Amino acid sequence: MTMPLMTTTLLPPTKPITVAADYAALCDLVAARIAALVREKPGAVLGLATGSTPLGVYDRLVSAAQDDGLDFSGVTCFNLDEYFPMASESPHSYHHFMQKNLFRRIRCRRWFVPDGAPRSEAEVAQSCWEYEAAIREVGGIDLQLLGIGRSGHIGFNEPGSPPDSRTRLVTLHAMTLADAAGSFGGLENVPSQAVSMGIGTILEAREILLMASGTGKAQIVRAAWTEEPTLALPASWVRTHSNARLYLDTAAAQDLDAAAQAFS
Ligand code: GLP
Repeated sequence: MTMPLMTTTLLPPTKPITVAADYAALCDLVAARIAALVREKPGAVLGLATGSTPLGVYDRLVSAAQDDGLDFSGVTCFNLDEYFPMASESPHSYHHFMQKNLFRRIRCRRWFVPDGAPRSEAEVAQSCWEYEAAIREVGGIDLQLLGIGRSGHIGFNEPGSPPDSRTRLVTLHAMTLADAAGSFGGLENVPSQAVSMGIGTILEAREILLMASGTGKAQIVRAAWTEEPTLALPASWVRTHSNARLYLDTAAAQDLDAAAQAFS
């Protein structure tokens, strides 16, 4: 007698997920992980992100530096991206954002943001190469903090960005432009390009924390963490990293089923 073939439904391979009760608790957890690394390795190299999501994390790191003596003097930071064209002194620049929200407040001496200064494409390409070289020179990124855009971008790697991409000039997705319109006082003022670390650059970090908050991110987070990695969803490549963790509040986790969350 022949036995019927067994069919097994395998859950897609997943990665650790931490779900916090709310945004404040989420920021506590992410900041605690970064602070622990800085204590353990005072010369740590951090990869940092902009956007509203990490703001609470930066506030907690500032408090840790100002009230608990967390020492950032030996830390080197590389940011993911910058609009192009964008003067670093502009209030819209990510350079300004990071200086105001973190670097000036923690007395970090070595921090870098890709240069969005208007110049030729060849000059931009040269400075992108130099950015990659600077990361390599300090031994690579120990911990990369990421947010996620509604287009599924990480940094400004929009859909279509290859998983081995490096720091380069990119064109922004329509959804990204629309999301930035408010802070630029209208869609027509949002630069259509940016300089962004590549997905390949990001995946070389030794540890990755991908952070998302709110129901607006629930759908894209579910796709990124449960579907096959694809060019159409840049954040999905984070799951291929051996030391990546997703940090969510309950609102951002609402579309992940219990099976995926069981890996917490
Ligand atoms: C920008 C940044 C991304 C960030 C995204 C999400 O596009 N380049 O690095 O992850 O915004 O922003 P928010 O955290 O405000 O949702």
